[in-house]
Parts: sequence; structure tokens; C-alpha cells
Amino acid sequence: MTLGLREVEAGDLPLFFAHQQDPEAVAMVAFNSRDRGAFDQHWAKILADETNLIKTVVVDGEVAGNVLSFTRDSKREVGYWIDRAYWGRGVATGALSAFLRLEQTRPVYAGVAKHNAASLRVLEKCGFKFLRSGEEESRHADDTHVLLVLADRAVRVIPNSKFHPFLWAPCR
Ligand SMILES: CC(C)(COP(=O)(O)OP(=O)(O)OC[C@H]1O[C@@H](n2cnc3c(N)ncnc32)[C@H](O)[C@@H]1OP(=O)(O)O)[C@@H](O)C(=O)NCCC(=O)NCCS
Repeated sequence: MTLGLREVEAGDLPLFFAHQQDPEAVAMVAFNSRDRGAFDQHWAKILADETNLIKTVVVDGEVAGNVLSFTRDSKREVGYWIDRAYWGRGVATGALSAFLRLEQTRPVYAGVAKHNAASLRVLEKCGFKFLRSGEEESRHADDTHVLLVLADRAVRVIPNSKFHPFLWAPCR
């Protein structure tokens, strides 16, 4: 299996739209999917913002999702969304670890719905930790979300039986 990150192309957006409409995926995140108009407006805005870093995840030549970073409340955050057809094969872990070689801001944060065990596991495998400072955590976590942080630049991926040794396609 070959996994790569590339620039987002216009033809990727209908696929991203479908990914964020999948009810099983939406149940994992603590917000509602966007309708077509809101989705188009949101993606036009984030793609136009040069401070964002946004990549399409490609597996064996097919679009499998996206991974991105943005700044909110002076914190650099990452996010990702993978098509359900690719879940459980290490795609998010591989994509995020590759992305963290491009997005080198540290510390870098991830806000995750507390019940999103798969995403928490992805972050754990990529070296993210729960915030230790009670004060900082309470400022950025709420009833539904927790905030994790990756403090240092070295990208370590915890290997396990499900993690495939991807071949990396070059980014462009
Ligand atoms: C969360 C998501 C990115 C995971 O993608 P993925 O490609 O399946 O992730 P990976 O295969 O790299 O790793 C998933 C890990 O979670 C584990 N996992 C999956 N479901 C789980 C569950 N219900 N409880 C505990 N662990 C779970 C898997 O076993 C795997 O861990 P392992 O390698 O130690 O076995 C994907 O499901 C997704 O896009 N969901 C919808 C959007 C979303 O949640 N985005 C993240 C917002 S913070």
C-alpha cells in the first residue's frame, strides 16, 4: 500500500463532502456535518487562508481523506478525516505522522471529542499526550472535548500489528 500527501485539488472536495456526511463518522466528532452550501463556503475559506496547511491523503492513488493544521486561540491545531472505506488500516496514523514532518510548529494541539477512541488512539500513536497542566486543560477542554499536545519535533509512531509499513509517495 502506498500512502502520500498532496495539495488539495478541486475534484477532491466532493469526496471530502461525502466523508463528512457519513453518519458513522459524524457520530465520532462532536459537531454536525455541513450541508453543501456551508461545506463549500467553509472549504473556500480555509483553502484561501495561507496560514492553514491542508493536504489530501492519497492511498494507492485514490483520495482517502484530508489532514490539516490551522491556528485557533493562538494555538496551532491539527485535524484529519479519513473515508470509512480506509479505516482500521493505519491510514490516519500514517497520514498524520507524515503531515507532522511538514507542519513543524511545536507545541501542536489536537482537540478531540472525548468519545472518539479511534482518534485518541491515532494521536497517542503519533506521540500526543493529554495536557498535564490542570489550568491549561480546563481552559481548553469542555464537556465534550479534550485537548492533546505534541510538544517536540521528533515524530514517533508506536508500531503495532495493524500498522502497515507504507511506501511514501512524494508530496507536491
Ligand atoms: C478517527 C479516524 C481518523 C481514524 O482513522 P483510521 O485510518 O481508521 O486510523 P488508524 O487505522 O490509523 O488507527 C485507528 C486506531 O484506533 C483504534 N480504534 C478504532 N476504533 C476504536 C474504538 N472504538 N476504541 C478504541 N480504539 C479504536 C484502532 O484499533 C487503531 O488502533 P491500533 O492501530 O492500535 O489497533 C477515522 O475514523 C475518521 O476519520 N473518523 C471521522 C472523523 C474524525 O473522527 N476525525 C478526527 C477528529 S479529531
